[in-house]
Amino acid sequence: MKTHTATAQSSPNIAFIKYWGNRDSGLRLPVNGSISMNLDGLFTRTSVNFIQALAADKLVINQHEVAGPGLDRVSSILDIVRQAAGFQMKAEVFSENNFPTGAGIASSAAAFAALALASTHAAGLDWSEPAISRLARLGSGSASRSIPAGFVEWKMGMDDQDSYAFSIAPADHWDLADCIAVVNSGPKATGSTEGHALAPSSPLQNARVADTPRRLEICRQAILERNFEALASVIEHDSDIMHAVMMTSRPALFYWKPATLAVMEAVREWRTRGIPAAYTIDAGPNVHVICTRAASNQVAKLLRKIPGVGSVLIAKSGPAARLI
Ligand code: DP6
Repeated sequence: MKTHTATAQSSPNIAFIKYWGNRDSGLRLPVNGSISMNLDGLFTRTSVNFIQALAADKLVINQHEVAGPGLDRVSSILDIVRQAAGFQMKAEVFSENNFPTGAGIASSAAAFAALALASTHAAGLDWSEPAISRLARLGSGSASRSIPAGFVEWKMGMDDQDSYAFSIAPADHWDLADCIAVVNSGPKATGSTEGHALAPSSPLQNARVADTPRRLEICRQAILERNFEALASVIEHDSDIMHAVMMTSRPALFYWKPATLAVMEAVREWRTRGIPAAYTIDAGPNVHVICTRAASNQVAKLLRKIPGVGSVLIAKSGPAARLI
């Protein structure tokens, strides 16, 4: 029996300048460019096996078989790969995360990056990094940023061909870490796909988008110059602006919990005392505290003392997605 197999590993990423809203939701063409850092040590490992005898695609995540919309989202990526490779074989996809799913760490980014890399290789396609980033984008926008190494920019681009991510600087360019303060989240919040669709209903979204090129430029420069003060200021501002849009959408999206705000206030205060730390928050209550690697143990220790912070994960700046 003919089989084609590959396994890939990729990391989630934390956005410094956020992706929030699409101009084409089917193609996941964003309304603005974004910048992120890959997170080392956290990863998704995905194997794709195209098998002649299989009647339908099969998806197993952390040993549990997944059907319905989760499987459909994966199959739509496999369909693109099958079409490019010129065959019809269905696939078995096995995926494992080494970090808690639903802890508010974007598992879809790592998942679709690993799927894009493994499935193209399993199909015998020798695609460039931009082409694989583009394919990952179609599964989950932020996944486009988990393909290249280190510090990454996803350009909004003109069209499907032109919207992909590339590395601004390798992981070892700047010794940064992300201390993720996991806040007790309670019932699951609105997912990001639904959230993107609500973004245009906020009267603040146009202002956010119009100002994004300026924030992207500041963030890019701060990374290239390893200027922590400039980075801290722009990432907190960008996160606050995105949450202002979320809170003023219809229906409104409030992701913060009391402990989220407690961490934000503490981080600002630590910075006035000379601790290089800054917060950024995605579509959930957890706070990503970006700091220098030298400060990460101290920051994690301080975070653990804040009431409502359950656990703290520490991740360094991470590598590109890779085949294993
Ligand atoms: C707030 O990439 O998860 O984390 O394309 O629908 O899968 P889909 O959305 P997703 O959105 C990420 C939103 C964010 C900001 C960011 O990571 O840029």
